[in-house]
Amino acid sequence: MFSKSLYFPTRKKLRNLNRFWQIIYCNIGNPHPLGQLPIKFFREVLALCDHTSLLDESETHGLFSTDAIDRAWKILDQIPGRASGAYSHSQGIKGLRDTIAAAIEARDGDTIAAATEARDGFPADPNDLFLTDGASPAVHMMMQLLISSEKDGILCLIPQNPLYSASITLHGGSLVPYYLDEATGWGLEISNVKKQLEEARSKGITVRALVVINPGNPTGQVTGFTPDVREQIYKMASINLCSNISGQILASLIMSPPKPGDDSYDSYMAERDGILSSMARRAKVS
Ligand SMILES: Cc1ncc(COP(=O)(O)O)c(C=O)c1O
Repeated sequence: MFSKSLYFPTRKKLRNLNRFWQIIYCNIGNPHPLGQLPIKFFREVLALCDHTSLLDESETHGLFSTDAIDRAWKILDQIPGRASGAYSHSQGIKGLRDTIAAAIEARDGDTIAAATEARDGFPADPNDLFLTDGASPAVHMMMQLLISSEKDGILCLIPQNPLYSASITLHGGSLVPYYLDEATGWGLEISNVKKQLEEARSKGITVRALVVINPGNPTGQVTGFTPDVREQIYKMASINLCSNISGQILASLIMSPPKPGDDSYDSYMAERDGILSSMARRAKVS
């Protein structure tokens, strides 16, 4: 069994698999080629932001939901020149980062409040946010900043997404493994992390970072960096100019979807719940 979404098999690979009688294409992180439909509200806003003259057409009000039209106007007003095809600030458009920071604050505030009975939200500063073209470029950027030789180690969970081991190798660092335990629901034993850390140090490796995938997947969070480190990250981000604006808009929509009472709310919830319950059903099958 392998994933169509991670790579498409060559004929040779398929021949080598001839002792198997069936190929099951899995939805691993790339669901759309396997039939999952995009969320309508997201696509409506993206379409309107990219083809702005639609906003001046009267037919648009019959074809697009009211909240998608309102959101497109709000977002376009945050983009300099309303130009979705232009470069942006290297960290991402400030208005979109404001929306995302507010949503992180509300989400993590609620989670922390539930866990600790605290009343305060968890502060998220839009100036600390870097919007990237997905998780992979952000991981590469961090590895490039953290690794200068094989003496720089990254504590990385096992099992992991191959992106992490590959990018550590690509940037010439050392992967220092720590192991998750399936028997405890993929739990983490701190004593195991400490043991791996000490073993790496005894080999002269300086551990620079710890990869944490949950909670936070698929959005990355790096916390506790000082202003001078933030400046270095900004410098690195500026070398790549900026992430694509459609992706930035989509990130803001995912973090701030339709709310109860909005025109799209019922269809958004039905689509979202349909995807989540289908994933839960298939996770049980495997
Ligand atoms: C833990 C983890 N890291 C990285 C990625 C790659 O993310 P992206 O496609 O945004 O680059 C994924 C994708 O599902 C993931 O689950």
